[in-house]
Amino acid sequence: MTEKSLTIKYKEYVNIDSLDKADKELMLRAIAATDGAYAPYSGFHVGAALRLADGSIVVGNNQENVAYPSGLCAERTALFAASAQRPDMRNYTALAIAGRNAAGELCEASPCGACRQVMLEYEQQQGHALRVLCLQRGGSVREVSSVADLMPFSFGM
Ligand code: THU
Repeated sequence: MTEKSLTIKYKEYVNIDSLDKADKELMLRAIAATDGAYAPYSGFHVGAALRLADGSIVVGNNQENVAYPSGLCAERTALFAASAQRPDMRNYTALAIAGRNAAGELCEASPCGACRQVMLEYEQQQGHALRVLCLQRGGSVREVSSVADLMPFSFGM
């Protein structure tokens, strides 16, 4: 038996204003996208904003359904919308994610496992890293420089 370990590096920004201009804009779009969430069951509104390689932004938000598994997270809504609408630009540089609770307060949004798997596939297909920025409770931002850091030992064929 050999015991091994993995470490990941990530960045923490004290607030949105500490981000560079483009990332701040992206996070503000993710926060704004929480308003478009359809989340009558959980009351948790998630917004995601995806930066395409041409600089444009596609947003998504969680879309729930009374048959719970039929709903979709904000991250996959954004990625699938971008992939569907801009197949010519299936090349992504950054994804910002923000959550808002039922009381209307901004709060932590960390992508679920299924979204990580989907994010990872687009990253692998494009052959360069997709950065992920997650708003944290209190307004700080966590950034990982690659989806691969969020999904070690992922499924693949
Ligand atoms: N949700 C997202 O949109 N993104 C995540 O990364 C985690 C969870 C949504 C799914 C559901 O509509 C609600 O948040 C509560 O789980």
